[in-house]
Amino acid sequence: MSKEITITRPDDWHLHLRDGAMLQGVLPETARHFARAIIMPNLVPPVVTGDQAAAYRDRILAALPKGMAFEPLMTLYLTEGTDPADVAAAAASGLVKAVKLYPAGATTNSHSGVRDLDKVMPVLEKMAEIGLPLCTHGEVTTPEVDIFDREAVFIDTVLAPLRRRLPELRVVMEHITTEEGVAYAAEGGPNLGATITTHHLIINRNHILVGGIKPHYYCLPVAKRERHRQALRRAATSGNPAYFLGTDSAPHVDALKEHACGCAGCFTATNTMALLAHVFEEENALDRLESFASLNGPTFYRLPVNSGQMRLVKHEQPQVFPAKIFTEAGPVTVFDPGFAVQWSVEA
Ligand code: DOR
Ligand code: ZN
Repeated sequence: MSKEITITRPDDWHLHLRDGAMLQGVLPETARHFARAIIMPNLVPPVVTGDQAAAYRDRILAALPKGMAFEPLMTLYLTEGTDPADVAAAAASGLVKAVKLYPAGATTNSHSGVRDLDKVMPVLEKMAEIGLPLCTHGEVTTPEVDIFDREAVFIDTVLAPLRRRLPELRVVMEHITTEEGVAYAAEGGPNLGATITTHHLIINRNHILVGGIKPHYYCLPVAKRERHRQALRRAATSGNPAYFLGTDSAPHVDALKEHACGCAGCFTATNTMALLAHVFEEENALDRLESFASLNGPTFYRLPVNSGQMRLVKHEQPQVFPAKIFTEAGPVTVFDPGFAVQWSVEA
């Protein structure tokens, strides 16, 4: 029997669009379904100042195909040289909706990130004062800490102390991947939110490593054990306003994924909403998909909920999604969930 649901048009609260030919190639994949997205600033060079964010926003809007509506919500990349006054001005103008903390060395293009939090306290204090959210890549980079423990250690040694020091700071724990992340976000109150990706609801670490290494499943934070995936599913489908969708859709050309030192990132922009319908149906929580994808994010970011709608239909037959997007920068493999998906987004 075919089934359908209609939800408020969703937003993506964590997205990588890149620049140039890649931006041109991937932007329609997001704009087709999402009204807005929080745009990650980890370009080369990074988007550090308000002027750079304004110029990047113009490039995104120039790349948008005619007839598509999409609002990029810009972020600034936090460095130890960031000027609190520039951040405040960019927020006051409405251009910038968040600042992104990358611990230096944690992930793609994070070398300009933060080594010493003390050096950025004046920026964080200003953000706490004006209510501008800090988006955190929550992993420590200490070489001795196992890659599977880096999120939990970040919460204990960086995030919790920072929030005790500056309780007014509004924080988004980006792409949580662990039970510890789920639990910490649940207790955080109105100044704490957490995004969850589509792919972390679908894969665990076996998917990356069993039966041969699968580079298209490698992302950061890396997928963890099955019990963590189960905790993420419970969180995403709980309806708790602390959790909302941030796909972390992160395109890299195939040549750089299928490589001796492959880049981190899963590209899910194309099929995210169909995959989420599948996951939420499996969890008997289709009625909570709207909270996760369309309502909780705007509430946290203090933005209006979208006025448009999206209809998702479950078909009798498995739906076919493109295996790759062909950009002028090269082919990008679309995330393969490894199971048949009967859902699709209908106009
Ligand atoms: O998998 C990831 N890809 N995680 C990140 O934190 C960065 C992103 C990217 O920019 O490719
Ligand atoms: Zn990301």
